[in-house]
Amino acid sequence: MAKKTVVLKITPKKIELNKIKKAAEIIKKGGIVAFPTETVYGLGANALNAKAVLKIFRAKKRPADNPIIVHVYNKEDIYRLAKHVPKEAEKLISKFWPGPLTLLLKKSKIVPYTTTGGLDTVCIRMPSHAIAQALIKESKTPIAAPSANLAGRPSPTTAEHVLEDLNGKIDAIIDGGRTKVGLESTVLDLTSEVPTVLRPGGVSLEELENVLGAVKLHRVAKAEYEIESAVALSPGMKYRHYAPKAKMILVEGSKEKIIKKTQQLAEEYSDKKVGVLSFSGYEYKVAITKFLGKDLKEAARKLFTTLREFDIENVDMIIAEGCDTKGIGLAIMNRLRKACGYNIIRV
Ligand code: TXA
Ligand code: MG
Repeated sequence: MAKKTVVLKITPKKIELNKIKKAAEIIKKGGIVAFPTETVYGLGANALNAKAVLKIFRAKKRPADNPIIVHVYNKEDIYRLAKHVPKEAEKLISKFWPGPLTLLLKKSKIVPYTTTGGLDTVCIRMPSHAIAQALIKESKTPIAAPSANLAGRPSPTTAEHVLEDLNGKIDAIIDGGRTKVGLESTVLDLTSEVPTVLRPGGVSLEELENVLGAVKLHRVAKAEYEIESAVALSPGMKYRHYAPKAKMILVEGSKEKIIKKTQQLAEEYSDKKVGVLSFSGYEYKVAITKFLGKDLKEAARKLFTTLREFDIENVDMIIAEGCDTKGIGLAIMNRLRKACGYNIIRV
């Protein structure tokens, strides 16, 4: 049903409490509000109100078995939401919260199965964005929030992206400008014997290893190949993600070979409008090249915006250069591999 989406513009540096309170009122009444976090925009509802959370699934067209992350304002809330909090969780929380690290734990009774997609586990994170924190605080409840995009589309890093996908389908959005990290939080499973990364994100594998010692990287976190749904530990893993409208190919390998292959592909498809997503900075002939930046943190920030730009410019084919998988590079490659639907050329 179409409704008017209220837009509340707030500068993160000077938070207007009256606007936050307006948004919090909507959450308290069981409505849904999009808001910025340090990673991407989230679409929030009272995490403990199943009826409210259901509205998120409907607005996003999200499959009901894909669980939603619960966002908290107090670190201590984890003890209410999780049945058991292991030592590792406490170590990680003191080091990385607030920030882009999501912990997967056994859920307590107060978390509805609607929020967890029917699972006995719950994903919890404490965002560091001042607007997100203020909204959770004023709502006086943990907030369930997936990325505020239509299911399958690139995650939103600006309020404009959210409105592109969800205008008229959500009660309100807080426009707090561009998000800082640009891709989502790291999802770490602490219910397995060895802590296991299910989704690489804002906190790198190396940073986690520094705190925990051994950390496993689930093969869906690498996303090198498409996985069968039977082994999809995190239900979200089995759905197409981050996909632009254009057809997309990812080229992986050494830098020189990537450039050579990308140029060759651009020429092959020269009868089409070709866009290249570049880390190398090489100027391709017969293609619109968008340089993400050699610094991978900067590249991460621009990644989803750039994919959406190609859509707006009606590019028919996107060729993406692969990047190094160190640090945040692992998360970038995970998103690119999924965005292209595993249409990968390895050179
Ligand atoms: O940075 C982020 O994490 C953003 C911002 C808004 O906080 N949120 C986000 O949510 O990316 P979403 O729903 O787009 O992605 C959450 C991922 C999904 O792949 C989902 O399947 C997984 O986390 N997940 C959530 N709860 C889970 C659970 N109980 N067990 C396994 N996977 C879970
Ligand atoms: Mg998402």
